[in-house]
Amino acid sequence: MNILGISAYHHDSAAALIQNGKVISCAQEERFTHIKHDASFPKNAIQHCLNEGKISLEDINIVVFYDKPLLTFHRLLETYLLSSHRGISSFIKSISTWIKEKYFLKKILKQELANIGKNNFTQQILFTQHHQSHAAAAFFPSPFTDAAVLCLDGVSEWATTSLWVGKDNQLHHKWEIKFPNSLGLLYSAFTHFCGFTVNSGEYKLMGLAPYGEPKYADLILKHLIHVKDNGKYRLNMRYFKLKHGVVETNKRFEKLFQRPPREPDSEITQQDMDIARSIQFVTEDIVMKLAKAIKQDYQIDNLCLAGGVALNCIANGSIWKEKLFKGLWVQPAAGDVGGALGAALSVWFEHLKNPRLPHSFEDVNFTKS
Ligand SMILES: [Fe+2]
Repeated sequence: MNILGISAYHHDSAAALIQNGKVISCAQEERFTHIKHDASFPKNAIQHCLNEGKISLEDINIVVFYDKPLLTFHRLLETYLLSSHRGISSFIKSISTWIKEKYFLKKILKQELANIGKNNFTQQILFTQHHQSHAAAAFFPSPFTDAAVLCLDGVSEWATTSLWVGKDNQLHHKWEIKFPNSLGLLYSAFTHFCGFTVNSGEYKLMGLAPYGEPKYADLILKHLIHVKDNGKYRLNMRYFKLKHGVVETNKRFEKLFQRPPREPDSEITQQDMDIARSIQFVTEDIVMKLAKAIKQDYQIDNLCLAGGVALNCIANGSIWKEKLFKGLWVQPAAGDVGGALGAALSVWFEHLKNPRLPHSFEDVNFTKS
């Protein structure tokens, strides 16, 4: 049984091949095209996986895509209705590309796969939910038979933070926080505000944080995000605007910090460093509160992390140092690139109900750049 997982059309396209439950190859499209965060259909990554598996596309039994486009369409539609002052022409313009690429996704995937295989692609195509792909990418390769799985990212179909409990070959969804409330999008809003590229420069903001003081942490917690003791949170949307499905800062936000966003090529100031430290402080505070509440509520020994926010290794490290859990496993490809692997593993274990033997994924071939 050959299963091909695909993530694409948002950012960081990737492919993953598993054969009878064994991970054969995972590859990111940008490694072949040298286009950073390449979001296009990962034809090079797919071909690489097929080569590693010594098979052709005809040998693939199931293709699985890492999110459910119809649910994302509902979110984009509702988001538009919430900000309908921008007019119908703006809506048509912003959504037309999305409809072309995602709403007719099955047809597009078949066409793209047919181009690779030079033949009609008639095999089964499945879709997993985005956070299910993240959770599967975190839990199934982990050495744990039981674990809580916390997924944190910018946005998927609706979920931005979700909790799952993994047991043997199944993941059980427990709760989720929905868009526009998103820790990932809040961090990205600050990434933009400090002059870095969203969905790319978040690691720079994290790297800038140690040079500053958390002078604005109280301001952030008082005005921008309400955080409960259990870590669940709600953004104050008066300080943000929704644009093309993401959260951006607005004039009220700038007034709060008494400055405009930093120009990308301008000098980095001490205030930028203090802002970076402050949002890092808030992020760590939320992640730690979530982890403590999960431990208290589920009394489980192990925690797995995935989603783009789980690339924040400082926040992950703070959970580890707190010794809340006996085991902590973070999916190295925690962002959407790992969604291809998670989708494929989800089909093998959850959909096909194959038994799971932890430690059976030790010999993954990682693609060299
Ligand atoms: Fe994601």
